[in-house]
Amino acid sequence: MRTLYSNRAFLRIILVPFPKFPAEDPSVEVSSCKGGVGKSTIATNLAVSLSLLPQRLRVGILDLDVFGPSIPTLMGLKNVEEPDGALIPITNHSIPTMSMAYLLSSASHSSSSPSTNPDSEPPTNEDTPVVWRGLMVQKAVQQLLFQTDWSAGVSQGASSGLDILVVDLPPGTGDIPLSVGQLVDVDSTIIITTPDVLSLSDVRRGVSMFRKLEIPLTGLVINNGYFICPNCTERHYLFGGNPNDSENMFTKGVKAMGMDGDRIIGELPLVVDVGRGGEKGIPYALSGRGVGDNDPGKVWLAAMTSVAERIWGEIQFNTN
Ligand SMILES: Nc1ncnc2c1ncn2[C@@H]1O[C@H](COP(=O)(O)OP(=O)(O)OP(=O)(O)O)[C@@H](O)[C@H]1O
Ligand SMILES: [Mg+2]
Repeated sequence: MRTLYSNRAFLRIILVPFPKFPAEDPSVEVSSCKGGVGKSTIATNLAVSLSLLPQRLRVGILDLDVFGPSIPTLMGLKNVEEPDGALIPITNHSIPTMSMAYLLSSASHSSSSPSTNPDSEPPTNEDTPVVWRGLMVQKAVQQLLFQTDWSAGVSQGASSGLDILVVDLPPGTGDIPLSVGQLVDVDSTIIITTPDVLSLSDVRRGVSMFRKLEIPLTGLVINNGYFICPNCTERHYLFGGNPNDSENMFTKGVKAMGMDGDRIIGELPLVVDVGRGGEKGIPYALSGRGVGDNDPGKVWLAAMTSVAERIWGEIQFNTN
């Protein structure tokens, strides 16, 4: 097994061996087993937060959600296409990114599905469904993992490409996370969850899969756990109550998995502007800089930075 990246991160972080990467370059994989819990949002913001650390890390994002890629939208690269299907990262906000979405041609969609409605919007690569199974998915994942030329996506002076790669995984324990776990040497995985028992049952399956694959699990990030009322500044818990309460069902479940205590590496509030930032293609870790001290976004930004510091610290610790 080759080692592409060697980092620990929150969300899911994987170290992946990469032919176009020097073997010792670190990488991080971000994943969650539950859908819609904020994995891609955290992956993009984690990448930005890592790049803003004092070390000025060169960070890339690999979107391995082949069936539902979100990274192009979240990074302001919606409907961008690779010329001639090249595997060259596309950069925005100083972060090089690679996604299956860049390889989906809107032209192929329009020729196979002509619209009969003259008022309909022209098709885009966002509309193009991926209808592959098994081997085709595995091949796509392998190409994205091993054939993307990250050295082409980083700025001058980067002799070896990236300092860390953040990998956004699809939900579930299907072919893609399995393939990644088998194909590459993963340094670290972070799992995103909302603090409720329903999400936890999916997370439990994921934790068990990563342990079987012997992928290092850095910890859990609790997302959307609470909302800070802008008027009263109180925390309102949205799912299943306060996870810091030892009698909370979610908290008991986390403990039973051995993912409690310092394995909970971050707790991010729901912040409306975080969602809006994603829709506009500007991660809140960038657009929220400069918000006032009393803005709920300030708490979110501090928590996100702390997750990035923890990940980079663990990577350093494990690789030195
Ligand atoms: N902390 C947050 N505050 C506000 N909105 C958030 C937050 N985290 C995520 N969201 C919003 O939640 C929605 C789902 O987020 P996202 O797409 O990142 O989840 P996901 O886990 O990647 O989903 P999928 O499983 O479909 O890949 C998005 O609309 C996003 O803007
Ligand atoms: Mg996603």
